[in-house]
Amino acid sequence: MNVNGKYYQTVWMEGEHVLMIHQNKLPWSFEIHTCTTYQQTCDAIRTMIVRGAGAIGAAAGFAMAQAFIQTDDANPENIVNAKRLIEGTRPTARNLFYAVEKVFAAGLVSVENAVAEARMVAQKDIEDSRNIGLFGSQLFGARTRVLTHCNAGWLAFVDYGTALSPIYTACDQGKKVFVYVDETRPRGQGARLTAWELHNEQIDHQIIPDTAAATLMAEGKVDLIITGADRIACNGDTANKIGTLDRAILAAYYKIPFYIAAPTSTIDQQCDTGEDIEIEHRSEEEVLFQEGPDAEGILRKIKVASEGSTAFNPAFDITPSKLITGIITEKGILKAQGRIIRPMMKKLYKNN
Ligand code: MRU
Repeated sequence: MNVNGKYYQTVWMEGEHVLMIHQNKLPWSFEIHTCTTYQQTCDAIRTMIVRGAGAIGAAAGFAMAQAFIQTDDANPENIVNAKRLIEGTRPTARNLFYAVEKVFAAGLVSVENAVAEARMVAQKDIEDSRNIGLFGSQLFGARTRVLTHCNAGWLAFVDYGTALSPIYTACDQGKKVFVYVDETRPRGQGARLTAWELHNEQIDHQIIPDTAAATLMAEGKVDLIITGADRIACNGDTANKIGTLDRAILAAYYKIPFYIAAPTSTIDQQCDTGEDIEIEHRSEEEVLFQEGPDAEGILRKIKVASEGSTAFNPAFDITPSKLITGIITEKGILKAQGRIIRPMMKKLYKNN
């Protein structure tokens, strides 16, 4: 996508370096962060300088390629340790493991092969996201009010995104789209990142506090809900940003179609159901403090909670397949109805 008239991807590799848009600085400043070693790329994933399922996957694939460049062939244990370090950065996003496994296997042939595979993983992420946009746009009528949670736009992938890709495509097709944006807490990824993306693309939208979603749905103001996914089990149960489950329950109550948009690389054939998905718990600081620029534009953290209290901060929740109307993939829209989806998922995964 373009920023100030120039084309950018969220994450890319130049020589031995991995470059990425610094997402913790958005929307206040647009900066490119450079990682010269795989350890630095791991830190960038852990601290969420790069975040979002597909972008984490691409960054992890590039980190694996950097590890092959840096590692001395004489001790094969080093590369296995590097793989473990990369895989330990964030546990929930399936795409991280998908990319690392692919690049690791390629790197056993040669370093050049590892770099080429990492680039291919990133390129496939772009193509998949683009196709998700084409399929997902079929869900949009001439006028659609859509709600999306957190950020599953181009910043969360290498380009286009998943939940936002159908919105971009529908707008390109001349359809009128209005987007309600939430995840204002704990990290504000909707308020900061999705709103920034939509503003850049001049798409009509409004940020809503997470607690306003029910009211909007009760008032009949939401036609469609689309969110992303970090990991999808074989029965269609889906892990996504905390708060996705609330929206799915509300959607079922108010009979609003609720879709997950994700590439098939997010499906985990090792997970039969959502119970098998590991949920990351993040620092309680994310709940107790908020970050933003002061009047001089300096980024500051301020406490927004009572002194002496602790906080519970799971990063993701699991939405059961029975609450999901369908899963928009790069191969088409799957109906997520428990028993039907399992063989479809396994077949799609094999053809990946
Ligand atoms: O807090 P984040 O940015 O890690 O949350 C990410 C999301 O929930 C996205 O919706 C998710 O990665 C799925 S789509 C990229």
